[in-house]
Amino acid sequence: MTIESLPGSSGYLDSVPGQKLSYFSNPFVLGLTVIAGLGGLLFGYDTGVISGALLYIKDDFEAVSESSLLQESIVSMALVGAIIGAAAGGWINDAYGRKKATLSADVVFTIGSVVMAAAPDPYVLIAGRLLVGLGVGVASVTAPVYIAEASPTEIRGALVSTNVLMITGGQFLSYLINLAFTELPGTWRWMLGVSGVPAVIQFFFMLFLPESPRWCYMKHNKSEAISVLSKIYDPLRLEYEIDQLSAALEEERQGTNVIGYLDVFKSKEIRLAFLAGAGLQAFQQFTGINTVMYYSPTIVQMAGFSSNQLALLLSLIIAAMNAAGTVVGIYLIDHVGRRKLALTSLSGVIVSLLIISVSFFLQSSGSLQSFYGWFAVLGLALYIAFFSPGMGPVPWTVNSEIYPEAYRGVCGGMSATVNWVSNLIVAQSFLSLAEAVGTGATFSILAGIAVIAFVFVMEFVPETKGLSFEEVEKIWKEKAWGSGHDGESLLRQNSEP
Ligand code: BGC
Repeated sequence: MTIESLPGSSGYLDSVPGQKLSYFSNPFVLGLTVIAGLGGLLFGYDTGVISGALLYIKDDFEAVSESSLLQESIVSMALVGAIIGAAAGGWINDAYGRKKATLSADVVFTIGSVVMAAAPDPYVLIAGRLLVGLGVGVASVTAPVYIAEASPTEIRGALVSTNVLMITGGQFLSYLINLAFTELPGTWRWMLGVSGVPAVIQFFFMLFLPESPRWCYMKHNKSEAISVLSKIYDPLRLEYEIDQLSAALEEERQGTNVIGYLDVFKSKEIRLAFLAGAGLQAFQQFTGINTVMYYSPTIVQMAGFSSNQLALLLSLIIAAMNAAGTVVGIYLIDHVGRRKLALTSLSGVIVSLLIISVSFFLQSSGSLQSFYGWFAVLGLALYIAFFSPGMGPVPWTVNSEIYPEAYRGVCGGMSATVNWVSNLIVAQSFLSLAEAVGTGATFSILAGIAVIAFVFVMEFVPETKGLSFEEVEKIWKEKAWGSGHDGESLLRQNSEP
């Protein structure tokens, strides 16, 4: 898949001299992506494994089995850690670079895994979950930015989405382990402890990987930046890429030190970019993906299937579909573009949520119970089929590419924090909402939110497929200051749905 075959690619790519790259054509970039993506694997594994591990933790610690507060704390503390980790991680990325951010996440992560595996009581376990969450939070902002900054424009979406494949792959793996380890005493220590292994592997390989070329350039380390870029581009294109980079950053870095959180709100362009990025992250969560990922066994049981085994098996199938759908997203994101992919995904999500909702309403009315149970399961499968290629990868990809260099870490981190806070809210409220207003009504609410998300994407998210970082900056200037700015034609060209 070379960029020449892509419809509607921008002027930038048309004018780039030298070789255009395809997904598999540069082992260095792909290798860097996979190593950085181990952060995604940790993210997926650790958010997925806890539901299964909790069953055994309850066996070992009586206090946990007697207290739902302790159970909830064990589950949610990782999310709390991720909220803090994402916010701090954004700043670490800008101040110390992507490489040090990754290494520090690995250290915290490994310590957290050891603490969990060795925990003598539930409170130490909760502290371990907090540490692991911190690592996951830092990784959730660092991996996409590090990958995007090393990516050739024409395959940037696919490479950043590969990190999302590692997330969904990690979730699948954790469900598999949850099923495989049934009823072995002490297993939870292994289940939680093994997640330190990818962190150690990542730490080791990261030592040999370079810092992001864009961050180096920004920090006046031009020679290192050029040496990294020369591993990616042929000589003809290398020269062009360096010229582009220096022209763009020369202007931007004048007097720029590290950006603070509040600086984000001072300029109109950055506010607009942040609105688009953070909005996508919030809608990713509020359209309910993690009600499905965390509670699919429960939802399957609510739909009338009482067997634990069947419920676990169906949720494993859902996780497999989610990972397979992400592969489809990797292929589509640089072909059809971010906007079209998100809009199509949301349309399917709306229909699927309505199917689930209607089946729960009809099922509770009493007739044809098992028929409507299967109908709900069909809705769940459709939901994943539509969500996974679009609303899964698009928010992470867009957030890795819409901010100017100096803001990329801080804004990406704040947006990831929005994602984790929204995740926590949805995870904490789904069951009680279903109890209060009914499962059918809960899924109707999610469908309503998905409709708002559709309008939001139409209105606020520009197309960034095939655009260089510099071109994306021009789009925000144009949006903020109206026509006449040099982003005008790009905006027009890229805003078709
Ligand atoms: C989301 C996670 C979610 C996963 C599901 C990711 O893009 O950020 O919260 O669990 O997709 O596959």
